[in-house]
Amino acid sequence: MTAEQAAAAIAERTGVPRHRVAVVLGSGWQEAAAEIGAPHASIPMTELPGFGKPSAQGHGGMVHSVTVNDNNVLLLMGRQHLYEGYTPQQVVHPVTAAIAAGAEIVLLTNAAGGLRAGLHVGEPVLIADHLNLTARTPLVGARFVDLVDAWDPELRALTREIDPSLTEGVYAGLIGPQYETPAEIRMLSTIGADLVGMSTVLEAIEARSLGARVLGISLVTNMAAGVTGEHLSHAEVLAEGQAAAPRLGKLLRGILERV
Ligand code: HPA
Repeated sequence: MTAEQAAAAIAERTGVPRHRVAVVLGSGWQEAAAEIGAPHASIPMTELPGFGKPSAQGHGGMVHSVTVNDNNVLLLMGRQHLYEGYTPQQVVHPVTAAIAAGAEIVLLTNAAGGLRAGLHVGEPVLIADHLNLTARTPLVGARFVDLVDAWDPELRALTREIDPSLTEGVYAGLIGPQYETPAEIRMLSTIGADLVGMSTVLEAIEARSLGARVLGISLVTNMAAGVTGEHLSHAEVLAEGQAAAPRLGKLLRGILERV
């Protein structure tokens, strides 16, 4: 219900009846948005029904409408997290609303710690699969959603054509907000994680449940706890995002031009 209200508000405020693609820009990805194109309409999230105010530093709190080739694209500048006290339904609400506003493709971005040897800080990595370690689900009522190929193989192949140097990985989503211990990171490696972060998995589940195609890209902003012995900080996450912004922005634009 609120998702439909938010979708109606988005259509009215942007003058665009349907946005075919939605992009969620997480920590480290805010500056990349500038490379996508100039928005023709922008709405503060606080003015949209059911939206919260992203409080994590580096999250813009705006919804932009941009046109890339013939695609109307919604850029969601920031997200809500479980660690801010939001419920799973509140966390996914912007994605639910974007799909109600017409999104058939949902592109989820985030900052992540890198676990796998060979990953580098500043490198974008395609999400090939996930581990939902939040012990939560956004689904209420929907039953037994299939998550095989949840991270759309065709969209991943298309993205690798644009940037053949991209690798893929399994993203482990935890609640946070504390970073992991080195022991937790060893455990996550053992159970198959390449990347670790505090978002994205619930949004992907929601989007698949509603039939949207999902593409995900993590920016490796640091090596995970214990991998190098260095300490972790959110400032480092944001700084790496800034440094990578031109590459990330070009990649996003390339994807949006082709989907
Ligand atoms: N762990 C969890 N979330 C993160 C990390 C990390 O190392 N880096 C960026 N987000």
